[in-house]
Amino acid sequence: MGNNETQIDVRTALKQGLAQLRDAHVPSFTLAAELLLLHVLRRDRTWIYAHPEEEISAPDAERYFALITRRAAGVPTQHLTGKQEFWGLEFEVTPDVLIPRPETEHVIEVALDRLAVHELRAGRPQKNDGSGLRIADIGTGSGCIAIAFAKELPQAAVIATDVSSAALAIARRNAARHGVADRIHFLEGNLLDGLLSSAVASAEGSIVGAQHAAPLPAQTVASGPSSHQSPVTSHQSPLLDLIASNPPYIGRREASSLMREVRDHEPEIALYGGEEGYEIYAGLIAQSAAHLKSGGILVLELGHNSLPAVHPLLDAPNWKNVGVTNDLAGIPRVLSAERS
Ligand SMILES: C[S@@+](CC[C@H](N)C(=O)[O-])C[C@H]1O[C@@H](n2cnc3c(N)ncnc32)[C@H](O)[C@@H]1O
Repeated sequence: MGNNETQIDVRTALKQGLAQLRDAHVPSFTLAAELLLLHVLRRDRTWIYAHPEEEISAPDAERYFALITRRAAGVPTQHLTGKQEFWGLEFEVTPDVLIPRPETEHVIEVALDRLAVHELRAGRPQKNDGSGLRIADIGTGSGCIAIAFAKELPQAAVIATDVSSAALAIARRNAARHGVADRIHFLEGNLLDGLLSSAVASAEGSIVGAQHAAPLPAQTVASGPSSHQSPVTSHQSPLLDLIASNPPYIGRREASSLMREVRDHEPEIALYGGEEGYEIYAGLIAQSAAHLKSGGILVLELGHNSLPAVHPLLDAPNWKNVGVTNDLAGIPRVLSAERS
């Protein structure tokens, strides 16, 4: 039965959809066809495989094959369904935000492991609900990292920054969807700059979540790469326990080798860190050094070839206990350290 006819069953729709995607050289074409059919039918995978003979209505079939055509033309599946799972949670995604990637879950794992070690060293029970902790996610995009922390550490106060106001709007919606909007403070600005002005604006109190976390001692901080050497400004900012970031790290010189789904559909500001890709880390690490308390944790996601350029930036005397974590493909994916 062709897709122009009015009656089609689940099995046939899937078969025809995946054949179109396969012919268009779409990666993971079977999964993509399944996800698009699940989306149109508003069913789960179990239902689809339990009801292969079930007939699909003509409008649903039409919608499904329209999505298949767009997917075959390179539109990411997540832009067609409007969602992506990360850390077991469903996130709204649009072309304004990076689609959360599975390897970014290593950032959460490394951060939670390091926080647990902190608790052990301090002689506290290993279960950490985040009481008193201040956490920042720099370049939050969909909000996936900040929201995962807010869910894992229900008493922590979380700050999420991004230069993109469009991304922050999506992140706010995702925070509301997961019931943590009141615990995440979203700031628009370059790296941690927003945090600085927010601190200046509320110099008497804490930056976020005063009802959840006691104000922490303040320190003198500076913004910009030079702060790595000598913090000189007089702004007061409450110190952070953890800073995590998955910054843009692809080199513009690599653009032509990217998959079309990425290059043509995901936001440039989320992809490219500069000509080489690793340019953003120097400023990020310098600002993090100024905003973390002693013993505070920095966790950074790396591009596939960023390690040699970024590792030397986490040097003494500012940093100690530097660690590298590989992703499942064996690529050094997460660089982490403690503020000395
Ligand atoms: C690779 S995406 C990561 C998004 C999300 N954290 C994730 O892991 O899926 C990088 C994000 O950083 C933001 N960004 C780019 N340059 C920035 C800057 N200088 N300061 C703050 N955010 C920035 C982009 O808008 C984008 O949302």
